[in-house]
Formats: sequence, C-alpha cells, structure tokens
Amino acid sequence: MTTTVKSWAPGRVNLIGEHTDYNGGFVLPMAIHLGVQTTVTIRDDRMLVMKSVQVPDQRVIVDLDDLVPGCVDGWAAYVAGAVWALPIELTHGFEIEIDGDVPLGAGLSSSAAVECSVLVAMVEAVGLEIAPREIARLAKKCENEFVGVPTGSMDQVASMLGRDEHVLLFDTLEDSIRPVPFEIQHAGYELLVIDTRASHALIDGGYASRRATCELAAQTLGVATLREVTDMELALSTLSQRTNDPNVVSRARHVLTENVRVLATAKALTQRRFEEVGMLMVSSHESLRDDFEVSCPELDCAVEVALETGATGARMTGGGFGGSAIALVPMQLTATVTAAVCDQFVENGWLSPRCFVAIPSRGARLVVSH
Ligand code: GLA
Repeated sequence: MTTTVKSWAPGRVNLIGEHTDYNGGFVLPMAIHLGVQTTVTIRDDRMLVMKSVQVPDQRVIVDLDDLVPGCVDGWAAYVAGAVWALPIELTHGFEIEIDGDVPLGAGLSSSAAVECSVLVAMVEAVGLEIAPREIARLAKKCENEFVGVPTGSMDQVASMLGRDEHVLLFDTLEDSIRPVPFEIQHAGYELLVIDTRASHALIDGGYASRRATCELAAQTLGVATLREVTDMELALSTLSQRTNDPNVVSRARHVLTENVRVLATAKALTQRRFEEVGMLMVSSHESLRDDFEVSCPELDCAVEVALETGATGARMTGGGFGGSAIALVPMQLTATVTAAVCDQFVENGWLSPRCFVAIPSRGARLVVSH
C-alpha cells in the first residue's frame, strides 16, 4: 500500500466541436498546461479529509460510510465524487489536498482536472491498475452521478489522454480517439485564451435544457442520437414539420453542422491550412451564438474584437453562458489582440479578462509515489 501519492491533471481547451459530445458527435479538444495537483495521504481512520490550497480556511470531512451523492457540495464534491467513483470499497480514510492553477468556472474544465487528478492519485494509492480511458469514465461518472451535471465525456478524455502539440479527434459514438498534430507555433500562430470572467455555471440548468432539447430532436427523428442523422437537410425539414418549437430545429442544426466542422478542422490541421481552421472556428461561434444560444455579450465581444484586430479565427470554447473564448492569432499580433480585447472590456464596464496562450500538453500523470 502506498502512503503518499502526488498526481497532476490538466484542464482543457476545446478547439472545436461544442455540445456535440452528448449527441454521439465529434470533438477536437486539447489538454492545456494548467491543471490541478493532488496529494493523497493514507489515514488510519475512516475519514476523508479534503483540502484545497485555493480555499485555505476550509477543511471538508466526510466519513466513508456517509459518502453518497449530495453529502458535500462546492469544490469538495468533485474530490469526494472521484473517491466515490472508485470501483472498490475503501477500508480506511485518506487526506486529499488539491492545488490548481487552471482558472475556476472559466470553461476550461477545472472540474475534470480535479476529478482526473484525484482519481489518478487514488488509483495508485489503493494499488489498482486502471487504464487512462477507464479513469476518464470514472471521472465522468463522478460529474454525472455525484455532482449531478449531465455533461458528455470530452473534458475527462482530454484531461486523461491529452498529448503534447496535439488536439484529440474524439468520436464519442465510436469511442475512438485520434491525436491530430497541432503544431501552430511552427507556423507562426498562437492559441490565445480569453477568460471573460463572466459567470459560467453549467449547474444552472442551461446546459441540461440544451441537452434535453437535442434528445427530443433525436427522438422526433426516430434516431438514438443526432449523430445517426445521415441527410442533414432532410432531417431539418422533417423536424420543422414534426415540431412547433423552432428551438428544436435550431439546436439540432447547430449539432449537425458542428460535427461537419470538426471533421473539416481536423483535415485542415493535418494539411496545415490554418486560415481555413480560423474560418471554421468563426462559423462554430456563429452557430453557438445564433442556433444553440449559449454565447453571451462578453464572449461575442471577445470574438469580435479578436477578429477585428487580426485573429485568424475565434470562438467561444466549452459549455458557454460565460467562460472563455479562444483566438487563433498570428504570433506577432497576440499582444495587440490581447490589449484590444482588454480595452473593450474596460470600456464596456466589465471585469478585465484574463488572457494567456494555451500550450497543448500531455494528459494526467503521477508525479510522486512512495
Ligand atoms: C462542458 C461539458 C462537456 C461538453 C461541453 C460543451 O464542458 O463538460 O461535456 O458538453 O460543455 O461542448
């Protein structure tokens, strides 16, 4: 039995393929260089003691016998839920401390980073051998069943399986993952993340209602998921005839067109056609803004100003309703774009956004074990 284990798992940026993962669709995320470190130490009682360096005055303690969904909330729910998701009965307690530099609530999957980081450490601490893809499944189980957010599997897969200098083409229906080179720096580009600091809470219901509408669209078409649609035009006109709710049609249109854009982006990346990648990002943003309606004024402003000041492409990333935008920017313009977005936010009376360049990084790993 290992007594102290340290692990690390990254947050993610999704290059393209938004709100497609719970529709059996395609996504193209990358793990980033920011993430969450976990330190797990064995205890000789049956208590789970949880600490976060970012919340120094709080220690959350749960008896293993009381570890059920709803027993804790806030940041500790992601830690406790990861332990709960382990496929074994624990015989003694643990002290678990997390420390992260991925911004919280910024649409960069700090939650998946916590879940994956805690799971990687705990799996080692209890002496299990579980493959990374399976750990991602346990992390998703934590998020869906313990925290209670009906997300897809993109974030946890990116956090566990990310690769340096790559995005992952993840086919959520076939469950296949293909790393696609994302060597934009060699071509003179950077991927700028603009955390708008506008509130972003998937738990608020906007995410769940989008998911429910997509499921209704699939049901109305008689398919298990929207991915099974083969003729987009026919499906959309059938939907318009069978429903009086225009949202059902527009939500489905976003998902169907977004899947096409993900595959086109993966192809353009392999052929190093970055202008085309940029155009696809812009179409994705417009579709998320107009058809899926998950953008917000701060995200639209970030995208608009980035494009006006020289970005090759820009879009919101993640679940939406706030959070972060990303911009594909010729390297020499990164500072100009950043300054212009910040100035416009100040002029609009909003909080100044946090901007940084994302580095596509490898996924979760053990750091120390003894
Ligand atoms: C959140 C969810 C993901 C995915 C995105 C939207 O990040 O956790 O599963 O659905 O939103 O693409």
